[in-house]
Amino acid sequence: MTQHVTAAPAATDSAPVPQWWRDAVIYQVYPRSFADGNGDGMGDLPGIAARLPHLRDLGVDAVWLSPFYASPQADAGYDVADYRAVDPMFGTLTDADGLIREAHALGLRVIFDIVPNHCSDRHEWFQEALREGPGAPARDRFHFRPGTGPDGELPPNDWESVFGGPAWTRVEDGEWYLHLFAPEQPDFNWDHPAVHEEFRSVLRFWLDLGVDGFRIDVAHGLVKASGLPDIGHGEQVKLLGKQEVPYFDQDGVHAIYRDWRRILQEYGAERIAVAEAWTPTVERSARYLRHDELHQAFNFEYLTTGWDAAALRDVIDRSLTAMNAVGAPATWVLSNHDVVRHATRFADGDAARGLRRARAATLLMLALPGSAYLYQGEELGLPEVTELPDEVRQDPAFFRGAGQEGTRDGCRVPLPWSGRRAPFGFGPADGGPSWLPQPDSWRDLSVAAQTGDPDSTLEFYRRALAVRRAHPALGAGRDIAWLPSPDGVLAFRRTGRGGSFVCTVNLTASPVALPTPGTLLLASADVGPGAGRTVLPADTAVWWAA
Ligand code: GLC
Repeated sequence: MTQHVTAAPAATDSAPVPQWWRDAVIYQVYPRSFADGNGDGMGDLPGIAARLPHLRDLGVDAVWLSPFYASPQADAGYDVADYRAVDPMFGTLTDADGLIREAHALGLRVIFDIVPNHCSDRHEWFQEALREGPGAPARDRFHFRPGTGPDGELPPNDWESVFGGPAWTRVEDGEWYLHLFAPEQPDFNWDHPAVHEEFRSVLRFWLDLGVDGFRIDVAHGLVKASGLPDIGHGEQVKLLGKQEVPYFDQDGVHAIYRDWRRILQEYGAERIAVAEAWTPTVERSARYLRHDELHQAFNFEYLTTGWDAAALRDVIDRSLTAMNAVGAPATWVLSNHDVVRHATRFADGDAARGLRRARAATLLMLALPGSAYLYQGEELGLPEVTELPDEVRQDPAFFRGAGQEGTRDGCRVPLPWSGRRAPFGFGPADGGPSWLPQPDSWRDLSVAAQTGDPDSTLEFYRRALAVRRAHPALGAGRDIAWLPSPDGVLAFRRTGRGGSFVCTVNLTASPVALPTPGTLLLASADVGPGAGRTVLPADTAVWWAA
């Protein structure tokens, strides 16, 4: 039976302004690893600017850049020492300005990453707090506390860092400070008005430069439960995103985003913010998207769902229901700089199967209503690099030995662009450096190697994004209608102005014969449609004009 996902009226549907972000495909650039303009082995802003035509040709709408601000790089730039400066390793403020202008000239919007939960321990406020000692007002902008135990030698509470170990570090004068991530990333105290004022000013600084929006790092973490209560047991990292903890997803964060929404509005209705909010449910994520808060939130429940038809159908339904209830677009994402690349996640030990599923997963994702996020290199079908030697790793989670099991360097390996020798066009010179080594096999996965090969993953992404742009029933909209399908197969219809569209996905390990719903638009693998019925090979998705 056909089942419709019901939609509440979207609060902003009647707004007369263009809402580009509702169905945008947004491409994440990880600046360290995208393109190295000056040959020092580290990606940089001029490198990115020079490669923007690749993104225009790919057919994405916007680019989100992970942080490139002044930073000692204890957490690859998510430890910011100066929120208004570009780190010299990435370039200059003039380069950032130039990048925004060039992107705009190519029709691409630009989103920067803002990191408000914590700063670097080298940030001038933290340095001042250290210098001025216990009781000084400078300490109030962070969470400093005396320890517990007879001599204060134990942390103030039992909270654990997301990267493993206690979430507290003791300073020389005996006080402890809170850091939900690395010790080099002290958490701001968002009960302090100066913190609010500072971030209002930082947002305006980049909005004035012309940025189209922000990705808000750890958006769920800013406000901590009052009194910083104990949790009562260890291994808290396993709870994250599954259960309530007193340092994440507290109700108080929403007032901050209402305030930020007002600032964005001052710059017109096209500037947006997307929350990195790891919450237990899509319903909790939707709370960040009420009409006077943020525009989008990453759908991490979707990202963490395996290659399983029933589980995917369930998360799709719940996402659409939750987002429609607040009038926000759903978002879909398969990979980012913090997780194992999906071509490897889906592989179950067989790389070819992983890539087949990854391509099918891409068609499924891009067929859903709302906005989709791509992570650099997925358009090349890049797998996770699983065999990095320990001495080249840089992820603090690796060294603190918990949480993310040291896996985050393997998705951050610099992109291959061209040529037969590393760094494969990542930097200007053959044989030049790259901050993480690339596998030799990536010579066949470079942008140049895949361009023009109709079977390549890159050409497949280009076609998919072109069809998505052109077909009236793809992109915007809020609903899908599930069609009857055998176990392990997903089939749904979308209807838009002037056309209807069907997506079928075989998630099983065997071919499945299905009624042919229309004219084939694009398939993730060869299907060879027959009269009346089409055989979908294992792990294959097809788009139909129907
Ligand atoms: C976010 C970022 C991650 C970083 C962490 C701390 O989760 O995506 O890369 O390590 O925040 O800033």
